[in-house]
Amino acid sequence: MGTRLLALDQGTTSSRAMVVDEDGRVLGVGQHPLACHYPAPGWVEQDPEAIWATQLAAIRDALAAAGVEAAELRAIGIANQRETTVVWDRESGRAVAPAVVWQCRRSAPICEALRAAGREPLVRERTGLVLDPYFSASKLAWLLEHVPEVRRLADQGRLAFGTVDSWLLWKLSGGAVHRTDRTNAARTALLDLCTGRFDPELLALFGVPASCLPEVVDSVGPLAETDPSVLGARVLVSGVAGDQQAALAGQACTEPGMAKATYGTGAFVLLQTGPALPSSSHGLLGTLAWSLPGRRDHALEGSVFVAGAVIQWLRDDLGLLERAEDSAPLAASVPDSGGLVLVPAFTGLGAPHWDPAARGALVGISRGATRAHLARAALEAIAHQVRDVLVAMAEDLGGPPGVLRVDGGAARNDLLLQLQADLLGVPVERPVVTETTALGAACLAALGAGLLPGPEAFARFWRLERRFEPTTDEAERARAQATWQRALGRARGWAGP
Ligand code: G3P
Repeated sequence: MGTRLLALDQGTTSSRAMVVDEDGRVLGVGQHPLACHYPAPGWVEQDPEAIWATQLAAIRDALAAAGVEAAELRAIGIANQRETTVVWDRESGRAVAPAVVWQCRRSAPICEALRAAGREPLVRERTGLVLDPYFSASKLAWLLEHVPEVRRLADQGRLAFGTVDSWLLWKLSGGAVHRTDRTNAARTALLDLCTGRFDPELLALFGVPASCLPEVVDSVGPLAETDPSVLGARVLVSGVAGDQQAALAGQACTEPGMAKATYGTGAFVLLQTGPALPSSSHGLLGTLAWSLPGRRDHALEGSVFVAGAVIQWLRDDLGLLERAEDSAPLAASVPDSGGLVLVPAFTGLGAPHWDPAARGALVGISRGATRAHLARAALEAIAHQVRDVLVAMAEDLGGPPGVLRVDGGAARNDLLLQLQADLLGVPVERPVVTETTALGAACLAALGAGLLPGPEAFARFWRLERRFEPTTDEAERARAQATWQRALGRARGWAGP
């Protein structure tokens, strides 16, 4: 039998696992949905034990589907939802609070207070991020402040903190390993992007005790070994990265200037910048692409909070669609949105606007507006938001990328991708395997297990399925953009004072 790799993709709405061979061919997949809980407005939580249980079930299903035993696996790669904050007791291994999910806004007052104290420039310069409840540090600060058991364990030196990668490594290794890969650490707002280490000044700023932190390691290499009680065999974990970074690997964006967009619940655009430390003066984040022994590649990132989630809203809350995929034919049944513009700023606006007080807006409604127009406006909104991020990238870099590679659930929607190419004026490429996140985890695992010579070889796993060429001219794009900007203006600051 040839080489078998297991790739994990622990996402916000589901835990997935995929068995692939040495050419990136998919042999078996497992997927289990994962619930989010919304105990208060703006709060989003998950059960850490459910994160693990669904991931383990997905692993077992993928192995069974591929007809592969754990002992036959050469290595495991992990990609995970980022920023989500888990705390557990090192002695019992028990999670001591619900996981605070990346979308959760409960720590906004902590960020506000730090901003008022003039600490934002420090966070921005050192971490490449902005001061926003999106990142783990203020979530952990909130848990230390509001959950007595978290505080007590921290005072006793028994508290373990981790993003989801750390939690999975801990569980897979039977509690032997408390580590995080550097791309995940770069999303905590505690990592100095320059040194690649947790920064004492940032720890003090957020009141985080160093004793609870995981060890920061490269994204590839011998990160852990599974405990035999977990999968029935010892298997090397040799690749770990945040899911968006993994998707960048899976899209083989290894040359500076190459960019990908993943359309999931949100949309995440990352542009490879190579070894140079990225900095943005247009509201983007500087982050790590991956950390290899002796080499760190970086990326510019723009995170859009609501993308696929707007289609879910049309389906689940408005009842306009039976299935998400019905949005494409419905939207295609009208030639345009009939003047409707939807700004889905349900939880504020992320990059490049960073406006937590923005709320959704629907403007331009005339008597002839139908659900088809609304579906089309929703798809256009996804494409506009991704365009805003790419415009900011072009401003930072002096020009747009030559092509945008896309993946994620909504990348199966041909109309969305055509709208995207038309709004950008740049071709959009969809690969054969749109499970790019899991594929990227497999690439990193292969690199860490010595099966690939370097990241440049990720291209071996990438094959083009379809390229969407722009069909608009400059004037049309400018008109569409001006209308979108006017609608954005209505949504901005809506929930503010
Ligand atoms: O930054 C959050 C991101 O990593 C979440 O990804 O795949 O759960 O939408 P996903």
